[in-house]
Amino acid sequence: MKLKIDGKETQVQPGTSILGAAQAMGVLIPRYCYHPSLSVAGNCRICLVEIEGAPKLVTACSTPCAEGMSVLTTSEKVRAARRDVLEFLLINHPLDCPICDQAGECGLQDYYMEHGLHKSRFPQADKVRRHKRRDVGKYLVLDNERCILCTRCVRFCEEVTKTGELCVRERGDRSYIDLKPGSRLDNDYSLNIADICPVGAFTSADFRFKKRVWFLERTASVCAGCATGCPIEVHHRDNIVYRLMPRPEEGFPAWLCDEGRMTCKSLRAPGRPAAAFCEEGNLKPAAGLRFAASRLGKLKPEQVAIFGSPFMSLEDNLALAELAAAIGTKNFCLHFSTEPGIKDGILKNTDHSPNSRGLALIHAVYGGYTREQFSERLASGEVRFVLGRNEEVKAALAAAKTDIPSSVFSFSDEPAPGRACVLPAASHFESDCLFINYAGRLRRARAAVKAPEGVLPVWQAADRIASMLGAPIRLETRAAVLERLKAKIPELAAAPLSDDKAEFELK
Ligand code: SF4
Ligand code: SF4
Ligand code: FES
Repeated sequence: MKLKIDGKETQVQPGTSILGAAQAMGVLIPRYCYHPSLSVAGNCRICLVEIEGAPKLVTACSTPCAEGMSVLTTSEKVRAARRDVLEFLLINHPLDCPICDQAGECGLQDYYMEHGLHKSRFPQADKVRRHKRRDVGKYLVLDNERCILCTRCVRFCEEVTKTGELCVRERGDRSYIDLKPGSRLDNDYSLNIADICPVGAFTSADFRFKKRVWFLERTASVCAGCATGCPIEVHHRDNIVYRLMPRPEEGFPAWLCDEGRMTCKSLRAPGRPAAAFCEEGNLKPAAGLRFAASRLGKLKPEQVAIFGSPFMSLEDNLALAELAAAIGTKNFCLHFSTEPGIKDGILKNTDHSPNSRGLALIHAVYGGYTREQFSERLASGEVRFVLGRNEEVKAALAAAKTDIPSSVFSFSDEPAPGRACVLPAASHFESDCLFINYAGRLRRARAAVKAPEGVLPVWQAADRIASMLGAPIRLETRAAVLERLKAKIPELAAAPLSDDKAEFELK
């Protein structure tokens, strides 16, 4: 059907709202209660527009387009209505703006500057007071005075998580958002409420007052918290990651789970190893690699075991597989059995690792023992040294009921007592790398911050160790690793591995 918006003709599918049609033309109509991933509530009235010939203004979010309609989004009537709506919403709004952590991404502040700019006719002393700084859940703080009752938060809990913890209490200017009796806002996706709240009513307990948002730099990346591999934006400044936010990408909802958002906490945690912790004491990362190489160099190939991991990238696992081949040991494992799938109907995956499909591709080419066989090898007494990711080596040694000296790569602050050497490794926040998610989609993590000095990604560490052992694997640069991935893994031969934009899915 055809209609005109601000005099320009457009064509839309029947059922499209005026707001949707305008947005498709690049005309931004203000909105508070409307959210593309929630049902339409039509309660805030900020999206009022004029239809030529109609007696009253209509809400653009809830009014469908009609054939021949002529919509005006910036007429004098519309601008007056927006001012009135803003004046109404601000009657009882507290004068918190200078200290409110939503500043910089607050719909009230932004629209007031664009459409309001009125002088308040209501004395500050007459404002209705409500609860402030309420602890409503593990990750959220609620300030009822700042709420404009758009009900996005209530609809999110009803429609997305279906946990229904929130409700609107009372009537008129006494209305406020509250927890239902006996509830806490502790569902697995609660932090999305801080994102969708258009004002500073719901804020993240973890992020608030840490950094003004206009100082943050943003890097497009992916979450490595599970096999779903959600698109994220890493918000950082001065080499510190402050928060992870959802990034729009086709095929993914606009949410992140709370667990995934907290994956950045292992970075810069007080115990995160920036030095190599070896039997000889704390060494610089490069000296730690020399220590690991010297231990490996004293052993026969079959006395060395190498452990790949679905928690490490394609590049890291490829380099470990190449290292095993260069050393000549058959004792390596690139296997991980899992049954991935979205477990809650939203995002969270039954598989907690970001790259089990990537590891399976490398396993198919390089072979190696299954986890069970590897455990038997560790228990056999032949193996004298294990190299791998801390958490997996620990679990494998525990399963094999043995305690073989090992050099482990550590991305986190998890302690690794009893290891011969803990080698710090650059995480996916600190180095560009690739994962393949449960659906076979290539996921690109981008370095947002720098790793501590001398700390390398595992693939580069494996390359250095191989060179020190006199068995070079020639993976000095990321370009070399990507070339090797393409050459060795048939499924990746056509993949645009170094191209930022192209999408790729495994057949
Ligand atoms: S708390 Fe935020 S999201 Fe919830 S109704 Fe109020 S303004 Fe809307
Ligand atoms: S669902 Fe998985 S990938 Fe998505 S945010 Fe949560 S942990 Fe990260
Ligand atoms: S955005 Fe249309 S009524 Fe709120």
